[in-house]
Amino acid sequence: MRLDIITLHPELMESPFQTSILKRGIAKGLVEVHFHRLRDWGIGKRKQVDDEPYGGGAGMVLRIEPLDQCISHLKSQRNYDEIIYLTPDGERLSQKTVNTLSLKENIIMICGHYKGIDHRLRTLHITKEISIGDYVLTGGELAACVLADALIRLIPGVINDEQSALTDSFQDNFLSPPIFTRPEEYKGIKVPEILLSGNFKKIEQWRQEESYKITLEKRPDLLGEK
Ligand code: ADE
Repeated sequence: MRLDIITLHPELMESPFQTSILKRGIAKGLVEVHFHRLRDWGIGKRKQVDDEPYGGGAGMVLRIEPLDQCISHLKSQRNYDEIIYLTPDGERLSQKTVNTLSLKENIIMICGHYKGIDHRLRTLHITKEISIGDYVLTGGELAACVLADALIRLIPGVINDEQSALTDSFQDNFLSPPIFTRPEEYKGIKVPEILLSGNFKKIEQWRQEESYKITLEKRPDLLGEK
């Protein structure tokens, strides 16, 4: 997979890709991440990237030319499966969307700033708009990191134990059951007996029951309940 991320602030996004599992995925050559500094495509001597909104109102809007030129340049080099704009008014990110996107080869992510981007960019290039939740961030950078992290860990070979990505919360609409590691008892709190029994059939059954209980308690909406 190749991710091209267009942003005003690449430095804000660097560390997640230089750490842990994402770093390993990149080192193994399973994913390439390229940052494109929008300012490099800015207009005139001052490399302007934003302007006031037509019709008035607070806040600045990202101009269409720098974004269009940067995206057109990338498109002239390869085909892209998706051009994603991270925005609070996009479709709410779900594991289902992440699973689908993780099968793609080439993806562009656009990080917005200020009041947003000139709406015409949606007609020209954008194939998908994604929000990571109903709140407003300063820009799309952290949202793009979230999306990239969720995507990259699903690429075969990135996580050593692939089974562990498949048993994550949300993969089957159930939250994960409780997990424990050593010691068996800590400050009087014991690990459930069943997990020490060595009876893997019973353990699996217990995990499924716990998963169901926890989902019903915390996220009944996932089970179709209100
Ligand atoms: N940009 C600003 N807020 C955002 C959000 N909640 N999701 C995605 N992109 C954003």
